[in-house]
Amino acid sequence: MKATASSPANIAFIKYWGRKDDKLLLPLSTTNSMNLSNCIATTTVEFSENYSEDTITIVGSNDSTKELKKSDGDKTEMLFNTLERIRTLKKFKLKAKVVSKLNFPFQAGVASSAAGISALVAAGFEAAGLSEKVKDKKELSREVRISGSVSAARSVEDGFTEVVYGETHNDVYVQQIADEKHWDLVDIVAVLNPEAKKMTTTFGHEVAFTSPFMKARVEYLNGIPEQARQAILEKDFDTLATLSEIDSINMHAVMMTSNPAIFYLSAGSMEFIKKVQEWREEGIKVFFTFDAGPNPHLITTSEFAHIIKKKAEEISYTQFTIYNEPCKGTQIIQDHLF
Ligand code: PMV
Repeated sequence: MKATASSPANIAFIKYWGRKDDKLLLPLSTTNSMNLSNCIATTTVEFSENYSEDTITIVGSNDSTKELKKSDGDKTEMLFNTLERIRTLKKFKLKAKVVSKLNFPFQAGVASSAAGISALVAAGFEAAGLSEKVKDKKELSREVRISGSVSAARSVEDGFTEVVYGETHNDVYVQQIADEKHWDLVDIVAVLNPEAKKMTTTFGHEVAFTSPFMKARVEYLNGIPEQARQAILEKDFDTLATLSEIDSINMHAVMMTSNPAIFYLSAGSMEFIKKVQEWREEGIKVFFTFDAGPNPHLITTSEFAHIIKKKAEEISYTQFTIYNEPCKGTQIIQDHLF
């Protein structure tokens, strides 16, 4: 009972922040993103009587290895809970060995959870013989979502994707906007020098409505994901740039005005915001967006990608950059890691 899946992280243009329902993880609006070709997790799951407990090991591209423990944090706990859920669904008791290999450095502050969670759910369900759930992308995305992450559910489809707004578990699922060959967008992630440990997104979603601006964000979002979707379909860079930057700033304003306040942006992030504005004035097509961390995602086109990479690496806050193109979503593959 062994299977392997690969799955990318993604960068959201219209972000998911705050929930309609904390148990079912229902987002407050449609949220869309692009998969990232150089932020991929490949995960093998085996259920066997040879194992006396569940183990999850993560291996980074720099060969750093980490043995996860349930107590490491809520996202990690969710991974262990997913293994338990699979056992309950299939009514067996076998424990699992999980190994996940990343094609980017581990613990560098790069959000690996979307890649890790979606790959583990796909490999786990496939290994347990629930392949009908893995083949059906909508269903797989629902399973990924309730395993702990709406953003991870966006990684299930290929290329440019969205998780649609809905009122019930069944109504919230991934759908493709366009495949990975549709548009030559590039996301250069500038990994900045690490800062103090951040607040988890799970906690952030739960306190989002303590911000007086959250209600305004939800009202603002009415019709916005559809405009972003249209901009992607029409390859309208300027519209996507405007919508995405507004969305990212708007989300961080909510985070900073929650109780307790959550600050993900750092001095380095601010430096990048200023620089992106300058680069645009030089005629370069580029915009910034930030997830729950200080690292700027610099979205550009293949024409400008190498200039942006070079410029990003020249900024003193940058440790290194990761060059990403749109790519396929979650896939079952035949090469097992063990
Ligand atoms: O899915 P989560 O709980 O990891 O939340 C992701 C939240 C953001 O990365 C900040 C936004 C997004 O839509 O990716």
